[in-house]
Amino acid sequence: MDLRQSFVEGMARATTFVSVITTDGPGGQHGVTVSSMTSVSADGEAPSLLVCIHHKSPAVAAILQNGAFCVNLLNAGQQAQSDIFAGRAPSDLARFDRVDWQAGQGGQPVLAGAAANFECTLRSTLLWETHHVLIGQVGAVHLSDNPDALLYGQRSYRRAVGMDERA
Ligand SMILES: Cc1cc2nc3c(=O)[nH]c(=O)nc-3n(C[C@H](O)[C@H](O)[C@H](O)COP(=O)(O)O)c2cc1C
Repeated sequence: MDLRQSFVEGMARATTFVSVITTDGPGGQHGVTVSSMTSVSADGEAPSLLVCIHHKSPAVAAILQNGAFCVNLLNAGQQAQSDIFAGRAPSDLARFDRVDWQAGQGGQPVLAGAAANFECTLRSTLLWETHHVLIGQVGAVHLSDNPDALLYGQRSYRRAVGMDERA
């Protein structure tokens, strides 16, 4: 296995939660599924997070122009939404016509039923090789009644089971 292959295989073992990054504004309405969302800080001027998106994704061009985005942390039952925004479930309908959403207080699309939604202002960007690293300052958080997040690892969707729960 070469270095790239072993890197990809190693990262496939890093089971992570799944988010859909949405954006709207002069740059257009777009959304993309990611596993790269990470908390940066709960403190400072406001909470912040980061997300890494491929430079050829139409969503990243829109986010850079709109200067804002929403992180929708998918609920464990939202595999269909993940597939829609990953381009894995082709349809004649536009992505946003296939999901339930509304504009948040900053005008960004907030997906219904997500475990949590984080409305962000784009504060810093870094183009590293193939991906843009985007840092967002969180202006609003919405928490649903069901906190279970959708997970993805070893190339399939998963859900978390507590160590003291039966599988
Ligand atoms: C579970 C999962 C996680 C993903 N994570 C990322 C990610 O962190 N960054 C990224 O650029 N693309 C990620 N992708 C790929 C994009 O969702 C998408 O499939 C790809 O960019 C093609 O997008 P398009 O159909 O919008 O052009 C992920 C896909 C899946 C299914």
